[in-house]
Amino acid sequence: MPRKKIALIGAGQIGGTLAHLAGLKELGDVLMFDILEGTPQGKSLDLAESSPVEGFDAKMTGVNDYKDIAGADVVIVTAGVPRKPGMSRDDLLGINLKVMESVGKGIGAHAPDAFVICITNPLDAMVWALQKASGLPANKVVGMAGVLDSARFRYFLASEFDVSVEDVTAFVLGGHGDDMVPLVRYSTVAGIPLPDLVKMGWTTHEKIDAIVERTRKGGGEIVNLLKTGSAFYAPASSAIAMAESYLRDKKRVLPCAAYLDGEYDVKGMYVGVPVVIGDKGVERILEIEMTKDERDMFAKSVESVKSLVEACKGINPAFA
Ligand code: APR
Repeated sequence: MPRKKIALIGAGQIGGTLAHLAGLKELGDVLMFDILEGTPQGKSLDLAESSPVEGFDAKMTGVNDYKDIAGADVVIVTAGVPRKPGMSRDDLLGINLKVMESVGKGIGAHAPDAFVICITNPLDAMVWALQKASGLPANKVVGMAGVLDSARFRYFLASEFDVSVEDVTAFVLGGHGDDMVPLVRYSTVAGIPLPDLVKMGWTTHEKIDAIVERTRKGGGEIVNLLKTGSAFYAPASSAIAMAESYLRDKKRVLPCAAYLDGEYDVKGMYVGVPVVIGDKGVERILEIEMTKDERDMFAKSVESVKSLVEACKGINPAFA
């Protein structure tokens, strides 16, 4: 069986980590694209030189020309500028919108059959712009946010309960950012929902609320510590889980920024919802019943995504 081809647009902190993980997991040959000359080539060579030690077989190539992404099965986009301390995800909007235009055109022209995962922030607006600019079908373009948000939630919960992260599941909806919607009643330790764990005396509502708040601000917490960039290990792991589900047709149920066409009463926008990812891309969107509180939180989250999308249309009417 020929190896799959994974194209990474952006060879920065996340791009390099994506390439490393894709190699270690032998997902396929990796091609790194960047506008910087030398960076993707240097990182690719360094990673290739780790392969004899790690024992993986994957070609690592760095390029500066979109034509080289031709035939990619998966494209993961991290091109753009990351958040600096004091900068909100939304401040990034103008700069990264332009980047999505050029990246989208490159993918549309050279890898129109790929499954595309966007990581660039502000995520829900950038994945929307990327899909439009690329012209790819909406079920083949998704945004990585929920897997990361729920991983952070799971990690904090596992630490609180002193149990394995493997036995903690978390369920999040909505946009990536401060108003994501964690569904506490669908988040569990070995199948036991959090509200039951409160009843069992394992934790308190206050502690859960504090964990929810920390999860919402999880990206900012890392930015403030790093001072020179934003998170990259956990975002890369999260996108690789999505890519693997597509490449191996695992049909995992993962929270992703997916294009909604009436689901959850949202039309024509990307919002974080649970989806099934298989070899056809986004194969199904899970629509769950929400309580009044959850609906209100979700609506608020959708509103902030909408305002970003409107701002994009204002900046570049070609997106309207
Ligand atoms: N085309 C291709 N690559 C580009 C372009 C472009 N138009 N503009 C910038 N880049 C490249 C940069 O040269 C850099 O190598 O994108 C890369 C971004 O890497 P980093 O600055 O290290 O950023 P990273 O930490 O990888 O995050 C990337 O993901 O989580 C989001 O907010 C984060 O939007 C940011 C993105």
